[in-house]
Amino acid sequence: MTTFALPKLRVRGLWKTFDASRRGQAAPVALQDIDLDIADNAFVTLVGASGCGKSTLLRTLAGLETPSAGELSCDGRPIAGPGPERAMVFQHYSLYPWLTVAQNIRFSRELGRRREARSSAEVESALGRADALLRLMGLAHVANAFPSELSGGMQQRVAIARALMSRPHVLLMDEPFGALDAQTREVMHDLILHVHRLERTTIVFVTHDVEEAIYLGQRVVLMAPRPGRIDTVYDVPLPARRTQDMKLSAPFLALKGQVLARIRETAGMQTDLDLLARIAHAGDAAAVAE
Ligand SMILES: Nc1ncnc2c1ncn2[C@@H]1O[C@H](COP(=O)(O)OP(=O)(O)O)[C@@H](O)[C@H]1O
Ligand SMILES: [Mg+2]
Repeated sequence: MTTFALPKLRVRGLWKTFDASRRGQAAPVALQDIDLDIADNAFVTLVGASGCGKSTLLRTLAGLETPSAGELSCDGRPIAGPGPERAMVFQHYSLYPWLTVAQNIRFSRELGRRREARSSAEVESALGRADALLRLMGLAHVANAFPSELSGGMQQRVAIARALMSRPHVLLMDEPFGALDAQTREVMHDLILHVHRLERTTIVFVTHDVEEAIYLGQRVVLMAPRPGRIDTVYDVPLPARRTQDMKLSAPFLALKGQVLARIRETAGMQTDLDLLARIAHAGDAAAVAE
């Protein structure tokens, strides 16, 4: 029997042009004709040079940007704005500094807005959910600390727990570990993979770090700049359950080399290197002539 499973997220013919009229320039095409299907429970990473439209695509999926043309849907329903089924995590953890870790998680925006309307059963289930997330994210021992008392990695755990509070189907993450040191990032990678397995969310994860994109993603979507577009989609040939040692495996390194080379090509960096070589060569020639 063939089943036609609906993708969790579907993007068709998406274009995005920002209005640049105030600067008197031609409007740059941030996204050109994007088609993308993301399956339920997938972990997809978007990678590419700076300015290739990764954040714009993610923000459009979040409903924070309106498309110039094209259609986006989540579970078959058109995306017309932000919704509780799609939660976003940014690079800079926007926590409330005057609330403790536990309070930051419990009083997610959605719950805070309707506090009066909530029954005691709802409050109780929210408290249970918050406690479960504190444990899942390894935050139980700092539940009563304030964000300023925590490291960047711990603050980002709080931000992720808060995003998960409303049981979103989709987690949209924009370079969430970009500000963390290498060791903390490794820990966060395994933590987010664990969250993905346990919560069964669909994750779209933006990064400019190729190693991160391959380690986390089942599929790596490579975007290219000017105009922002999808260049290549790679299936990651690694077992579903990732371990750090896989980063040294032959398939991992081969794919990493392939993706890096393609980013260099699409970003025009190959040309720059050629130019540098020519300049150096010209310099050598001039030195010889002297
Ligand atoms: N709010 C905005 N107004 C005007 N141009 C924007 C805006 N946001 C992004 N852009 C432009 O759109 C392109 C894609 O940007 P972005 O999505 O941030 O890329 P990335 O996240 O891959 O670095 C860039 O050329 C950027 O300058
Ligand atoms: Mg970005």
